[in-house]
Amino acid sequence: MSRPKAGVSHPVFARLFARCGAVAERLGAGAHRDELLAGLEGRVIEVGAGTGLNFAHYPASVAEVAAVEPEPYLRARSTEAASRAPVAVRVVPGVAAALPFADGAFDAAVASLVLCSVPDQGAALDELRRVLRPGGELRFYEHVRAEAPSLARLQRALDLGWPHLAGGCHTARDTVSAIERAGFTVVACRRFRFRPGVLSTPVSPHAIGRAIRHA
Ligand SMILES: C[S@@+](CC[C@H](N)C(=O)[O-])C[C@H]1O[C@@H](n2cnc3c(N)ncnc32)[C@H](O)[C@@H]1O
Repeated sequence: MSRPKAGVSHPVFARLFARCGAVAERLGAGAHRDELLAGLEGRVIEVGAGTGLNFAHYPASVAEVAAVEPEPYLRARSTEAASRAPVAVRVVPGVAAALPFADGAFDAAVASLVLCSVPDQGAALDELRRVLRPGGELRFYEHVRAEAPSLARLQRALDLGWPHLAGGCHTARDTVSAIERAGFTVVACRRFRFRPGVLSTPVSPHAIGRAIRHA
């Protein structure tokens, strides 16, 4: 088995994402993040934290967030955001497929708009499962493969080039099924369209929900 790459470098996309992410926040993503994180408790791991847009939305019942971010520019931005967060957030380097934490170290894990971008979704989900305690929950907020066949066809075609322009992001991944295959039970899942910009139709189908790690 090949070792996962230790880092990620997408300097242009990282800066673009930092701008567009702030706009999407005002157009509805902020409310999605509230929904994503509501009621979380204990020790939480967040993978691919980006600029730290989730941090302001963690409830006070969270004891600590370990936020993993491999991209240097985004890690610097999320470290700044951590200093303003309402809960304790520690930002660390790392990739989703090789998390620098012990088995069962966390009560909950958060994946938001990241399972589209990891090179190997199965490996990332196996790692999230490993660092969660049995019965711990994975919260997810992801853009996903469209249920409408015409848009799903467009997504598959776009995935021949889109990842090269968008920091490794794939549009056609069936992330909710991948979560189930990785040893989780999806206990809540809301699907909706979210289109904050003119180019975002291919990534407009979203899923937000909770999955429980099997024992
Ligand atoms: C679209 S951004 C989303 C950022 C953040 N999660 C959010 O909700 O705003 C995708 C993030 O995934 C990160 N990422 C890409 N490949 C990764 C990997 N292999 N492991 C962990 N994070 C990764 C990127 O650096 C970036 O921060």
